[in-house]
Amino acid sequence: MEKADIGLIGLAVMGQNLVLNMNDHGFTVAVFNRTVSKVDDFLQGPAKGTRVIGTHSIEEFIATLKRPRRVMLMVKAGDAVDEFIEAIIPHLEPGDIIIDGGNSLYTDTSRRCEYLKTKKLLFVGAGISGGEVGARHGPSIMPGGHKEAWPHVKPIFTAIAAKVENNEACCDWVGDAGAGHYVKMVHNGIEYGDMQLISEAYSLLKEGLGVSNEELASIFTNWNKEELESYLIEITSHIFQVKDPEGGFLVDKVLDVAGQKGTGKWTVINALDLGQPLTLIGEAVFARCLSALKDERVQASKAYPMEKKKVSGDFRSFAESVKHALYASKIISYAQGFMLMREASKAYGWQINFGAIALMWRGGCIIRSRFLGKIKEAFDKDAKLSNILLDPYFQGEVKKAEAGWRKTVSEAALSGIAAPCFSSALAFFDGFKCQRLPANLLQAQRDYFGAHTYERIDRKRGEFFHTDWAGTGGKASSSTYNA
Ligand code: ATR
Repeated sequence: MEKADIGLIGLAVMGQNLVLNMNDHGFTVAVFNRTVSKVDDFLQGPAKGTRVIGTHSIEEFIATLKRPRRVMLMVKAGDAVDEFIEAIIPHLEPGDIIIDGGNSLYTDTSRRCEYLKTKKLLFVGAGISGGEVGARHGPSIMPGGHKEAWPHVKPIFTAIAAKVENNEACCDWVGDAGAGHYVKMVHNGIEYGDMQLISEAYSLLKEGLGVSNEELASIFTNWNKEELESYLIEITSHIFQVKDPEGGFLVDKVLDVAGQKGTGKWTVINALDLGQPLTLIGEAVFARCLSALKDERVQASKAYPMEKKKVSGDFRSFAESVKHALYASKIISYAQGFMLMREASKAYGWQINFGAIALMWRGGCIIRSRFLGKIKEAFDKDAKLSNILLDPYFQGEVKKAEAGWRKTVSEAALSGIAAPCFSSALAFFDGFKCQRLPANLLQAQRDYFGAHTYERIDRKRGEFFHTDWAGTGGKASSSTYNA
């Protein structure tokens, strides 16, 4: 009997589509599922006429695999992953590879890496993005874990992944342990930011300028031909054109309460843990939380009525400013996201490959865009680039967009239109490029009430001082005394 190149457990939507994608690329895939009847349903349905090998027990499944065995799990994140790992371990040999392609939390992936090392097995945690269509025709794949496994997994993953310019695959090795799943989490956080930025542009154009849905569709279609070209801008231009069967446009009938599944929140929690200013994604998560307070918002809108004031300036020039605000804020968001990943790479010892991340996000996933090609170029030029905002190309882009960005944020404030991500991006930018922040006063306050000490501009770093600011306290600093 023909042996399988790879085995996949978990025949839900993502699993089935990945199997068909692998089959299309010439790989023989063995499949298994907890509810065994789904194996036959798959073979008689979508997998009919393919080389896919259906199996009905773990033993049979493992017996069909070439060595080193490659077992990919596409099951529900959490206990199901651990249960399947335990179930297959007794059938595997040293050097065999387990790949988790589900939505696992990166800390679980790191734990499984450690555990499987003790069993002499290799483990890969791969973030996969692009949904059902991506899985079938080319997803973005972000693998991390035991690097010795990569040469054995690479031919399959790069074959099935999305392709961009020069037929480059949107898949490369991310880094050690849970790095792959971590990067997928940050991808989702950035997706929150991108979606909120687009929504703020929409709100300013619609509420501030009174632009119609037809005009919005045309503006977004044009934006999609320039530096903002991306999947999210493209689908947004389509959304504006969809009519409601009951009359009017469907987007106007959708309730303004945003849902969330938690990946944005986890990204922000991690940023707080690592002390990184991931302000834009933070605002994007909170904007969804605020939207959920619909009843209170309705009440407050009556308590604080505001005469609708259109923004100043003509249609064309304000729309151009909004485009610049969106573009500049997006640069800030990605700069912050890469700052976070850099810190994570350091703090967790992962050796993340940043250029590879930009390439993986360039196609196949929800945040795919032309812009990510530019980020990739920046890391190609300087693999050690400390911050996207310090790359010469992005410096030029931010400078070009800056005036429109400032105009947009000030018009938003004057017209009473919430633009939390545009404004917090600008606040971050102004802080980031500021040589001397008012943190001197903050340190003085901390030392005043809590004897927390401060450093001086005229002494070397690392020398700490305490002053009795009011002339009434003691000389003890916070190492001996905590307010
Ligand atoms: P969906 O993606 O359709 O929401 P899911 O509940 O996340 O479905 O399950 C995805 C895959 O994980 C399925 O293959 C499922 O197996 P069943 O078809 O038998 O439901 C598998 N799965 C979910 N929970 C599992 C568990 N506790 N143990 C083993 N497999 C599990």
